[in-house]
Amino acid sequence: RIKACRLITLEQHNDERGSLSVVEPENAVGFTVRRVYYLHDLQAGTWRGGHAHRSLEQLIIAVHGSFRLTIDDGFRRTDHLLDRPGIGMYIGPMVWRDLSEFSPGAVCLVLASGHYDESDYHRDYDEFLRAGRSHP
Ligand code: TYD
Repeated sequence: RIKACRLITLEQHNDERGSLSVVEPENAVGFTVRRVYYLHDLQAGTWRGGHAHRSLEQLIIAVHGSFRLTIDDGFRRTDHLLDRPGIGMYIGPMVWRDLSEFSPGAVCLVLASGHYDESDYHRDYDEFLRAGRSHP
């Protein structure tokens, strides 16, 4: 298990018309949302992610279709198939993530605790490892 990450079961309201999933991040994961973005029209065979954040927190949800999420805290690496709109993966700071194997039409919704800030990214894996291991 990666310490800074956890799967979260979202509140769902199901009836004969379908399902409604609710995310109240302040309650469910403890951060305030300052940005929402989503990945869509993803081409077969592509990868996304390939970075870690120094301080950003995120909740990642497969709102449609499925994809593989690999998370790595510099010590351990785990793999998850996200394939349900009622489940989110909370990813804390200093966790490397890769997204791959998008199903056709998959949509990945991301709720983030901060605005886009390139200086918050580790895009080099070795640099991420050095930074993470010197400040556990
Ligand atoms: P990138 O970090 O490659 O996305 P992913 O996490 O899916 O791999 O970002 C793609 C481009 O979009 C890059 O030029 C940065 C830009 N971008 C923004 O301008 N704002 C944002 O909120 C995000 C997430 C990305």
